[in-house]
Amino acid sequence: MSDAPGAPVAPQAGSRTPPVPAQRDGVAIRTVRLEKRYGRTVALAGLDVEVGRGEAFGFLGPNGAGKTTAVKLLLGLAYATSGEGWVLGAPLGDLDARRRVGYLPELFRYQPWLTAREVLELHCRLARLDGGRRPDAIATALRTVGLADRADDRVGGFSKGMQQRLGLGVALLGPPELVILDEPTSALDPIGRQDVRRIIHELTAQGVTVFLNSHLLTEVERVCDRVAVLDRGRVVATGTLAELLAARTVSLRVRGLSADAIASLGRFGRIAAPEDGRLTIDGLAPDSIPDLVAEAVRLGGRVYAVEPQQRTLEDRFLELLESGRA
Ligand SMILES: Nc1ncnc2c1ncn2[C@@H]1O[C@H](COP(=O)(O)OP(=O)(O)OP(=O)(O)O)[C@@H](O)[C@H]1O
Ligand SMILES: [Mg+2]
Repeated sequence: MSDAPGAPVAPQAGSRTPPVPAQRDGVAIRTVRLEKRYGRTVALAGLDVEVGRGEAFGFLGPNGAGKTTAVKLLLGLAYATSGEGWVLGAPLGDLDARRRVGYLPELFRYQPWLTAREVLELHCRLARLDGGRRPDAIATALRTVGLADRADDRVGGFSKGMQQRLGLGVALLGPPELVILDEPTSALDPIGRQDVRRIIHELTAQGVTVFLNSHLLTEVERVCDRVAVLDRGRVVATGTLAELLAARTVSLRVRGLSADAIASLGRFGRIAAPEDGRLTIDGLAPDSIPDLVAEAVRLGGRVYAVEPQQRTLEDRFLELLESGRA
């Protein structure tokens, strides 16, 4: 873990994997075969991930998938069993890099006797924010998370959602170059969720990188450029949402195809029992619908409609988990 940024990662003994560059320009987070075990539990099984600067990256996975473990390793709050990683150009756990990261933990409690403003003041001091810049930073954080009118109320009297808003405000102090949010909306009402989406958009518009842990698919769907789906410590899929959700099933309204012609279309995917005038093909390769339609026409079919069956993220998520566990 002591490699300087830019130094190659030493290949592991016996590994034939070639050395990889430790850090590249424009990369906020990079991990290579990052693994964490707790006794016999493999919480994270060799995570390879790269998040670009200014990107909103979603880490999706069911309970116990390893999302919080990954975040703890990124922040240096837990040590990896093996593997390596870099955050903002520095090896995991580097204190100087950590000062440039904002973090909203999954489970947190602030001192109930402090007011919201005092909590923020305390965190400004912990982050060694220059005294002259603190009042402005605190006012901006309070305004951004919608707590300006509760600034001088004690946290002990805050609702769960208000405490989560305050946690988000703390994560925005600095200002950070990378913001890591672990289930940021678990206690929020729809307005609070919308606020978090707005805040994430504003952050990425300013070039700040956002790493978001969530099992709430709709949340990730609306804000993230790219996602990785994690299950049992392993990434089972990664890509843009468009890639993950690409239609893999299409229904054609087509007439004039012989039984042989229909069978030959089977090279594009599985053909579900053809009905009169309707053909459903499943398991299509990405971007193969135009070729399938051209082939149907070439075989003498008259195509009246092409209906891709768009899946919801939730269906796709469950499908990925099932195929990863098969
Ligand atoms: N400190 C620990 N000691 C022992 N096992 C742990 C510890 N922290 C995490 N684990 C185990 O590691 C696995 C991953 O846990 P983790 O908290 O990373 O999951 P998660 O994806 O964040 O889940 P959730 O959605 O419920 O927050 C689980 O099996 C968990 O029991
Ligand atoms: Mg978690």
